[in-house]
Amino acid sequence: MTLNLLQAWQSAKARLEAAGLAGPVIDARLLVEAAAGATRADIVTDPYRALTPEQEETLSDYVARRERREPVSHILGRKGFWKIMLSVTPDVLTPRPDTETLVDYALKEFPEGMAFNLLDLGVGSGAIMLAILAERRQAKGLGVDVSEEALAVARENAANLGLAGQAAFLRGDWTQGLAEASFDLVVSNPPYIASEVIAGLEPEVRDYEPRLALDGGPDGLAAYRRLAPEILRVLKPGGAFAVEIGYDQKAAVEALFREAGASGVRTLKDLATHDRVVVGAKNPLERRT
Ligand SMILES: C[S@@+](CC[C@H](N)C(=O)[O-])C[C@H]1O[C@@H](n2cnc3c(N)ncnc32)[C@H](O)[C@@H]1O
Repeated sequence: MTLNLLQAWQSAKARLEAAGLAGPVIDARLLVEAAAGATRADIVTDPYRALTPEQEETLSDYVARRERREPVSHILGRKGFWKIMLSVTPDVLTPRPDTETLVDYALKEFPEGMAFNLLDLGVGSGAIMLAILAERRQAKGLGVDVSEEALAVARENAANLGLAGQAAFLRGDWTQGLAEASFDLVVSNPPYIASEVIAGLEPEVRDYEPRLALDGGPDGLAAYRRLAPEILRVLKPGGAFAVEIGYDQKAAVEALFREAGASGVRTLKDLATHDRVVVGAKNPLERRT
């Protein structure tokens, strides 16, 4: 039987629902759009357009992968974040809407027209750094990651977005290897899930996201213990930082940054009102009188 766009959407949705997936309507629509080379508007304005046999086969394959709990972003190889579209692979964390809280903060702190340099520690797909650079064309960014495979994805994303001239990438263990470089803004979304919690996460995360992007050590705070003093070291006097945290890590991460000498430390909430981003600054140089 030949399916049209509407029938394809309905049958994909029914299969995903039967597999017990949350959010089958949107997932099914995204898979139909990709398999049929259609836009969201096409499904509404041209619902009786028939899929070709090849498109039906592709859709069936996509739905089977989603039934096995592979994330839609992996099936499609892309994910929208803030105002940009990013290529994603199994080597990078799929960018999350929660992380947009950090981008929003950075753009407010560093208004349009301002020239500044930014360091993204654990750059992954490039989501945070590239979202900021795309809107601040006078800014330059350095993205660091310990994963060479992740850096390859971030480089490709920078090139696809026309941002290669503003972005540089370096393989490294947090700030080791940065020598005397210093930055106006340092951002990071480090791994922050306690090791033993990972096995109980939903399959989309547990089985498909890189462990390196998730595992924050026994209590989830291992990366922040290193990052707090290292970020303060590489910030320029008066420079700002913003790090993403887990919903229950506010007190511990704020304390680590205060101990490291940061000023103005506070936590921003995400749209779901969870504590999400710890921000602060390095004290400006004191004037000698
Ligand atoms: C939670 S992911 C964040 C990716 C991306 N910034 C985002 O927000 O979507 C954490 C990233 O930190 C990287 N990472 C883990 N340990 C690291 C280390 N010691 N030094 C540098 N990067 C590290 C991982 O490879 C991963 O890409």
